[in-house]
Amino acid sequence: MSGDDLKRMAAARAVEAVTDGMRLGLGTGSTAHHFVALLGEKVRGGLKVTGVPTSEATRAQALAEGIPLTTLDETPGLDLTVDGADELDATLRLIKGGGGALLREKIVAAASTRMIVIADASKKVETLGRFALPIEVNPFGLEATRRAVAHVLETHGLPTTLRLRTAAKDKAFVTDGGHFILDAELGAIDAPEALAEALVAVPGVVEHGLFIGLATGAILAGDDGVVEYGT
Ligand code: 5RP
Repeated sequence: MSGDDLKRMAAARAVEAVTDGMRLGLGTGSTAHHFVALLGEKVRGGLKVTGVPTSEATRAQALAEGIPLTTLDETPGLDLTVDGADELDATLRLIKGGGGALLREKIVAAASTRMIVIADASKKVETLGRFALPIEVNPFGLEATRRAVAHVLETHGLPTTLRLRTAAKDKAFVTDGGHFILDAELGAIDAPEALAEALVAVPGVVEHGLFIGLATGAILAGDDGVVEYGT
């Protein structure tokens, strides 16, 4: 089975957890894209839900699917967010932001009672850090922020190489919020909580891709089938 088939399988299982009246956070990325497409089918079949998209891309897709949308201003509390992840560990700590939507994804997840991660089973790791950690920064003072972040990484015994994420034609990638992303190749993050705390304390850092204490469940699809964790 292809990786994309596995992502669709995980998304299909997550759609089964959606019931009438739910206020949903709609994730971003290729796995979340499957979820939104399958949810759209259910909505057109009569399921009543409202969704808060975590990116402009997901907003456009959800509107095209006919999924009614709301905002966190109108609906500050959500029942369930379904989103992908770049990595997850056994305690449901995540790295997210490979698709550049980590800020809205984190705000939406934090506003949700439950967050289910959907992924192909290859995303599950023993130790977070194989995937480069995305750190969203304000463009103002970029080099000073980069130095300060490198210092934090150094004090945590981690490599300090920070790559500015680029889009087409070597221009900096700009997030939906107008920020840049520094990708940190860390290898293994032994103390994610401590690192998360230190990174958000750096002026200029808007958010980072360590999602800790947010996911309540995961649905992982592999060649042997679908495995569910948590709720
Ligand atoms: C976007 C994300 C995505 O959820 C993450 O990158 C996983 O993407 P995919 O489902 O395409 O593998 O965090 O910011």
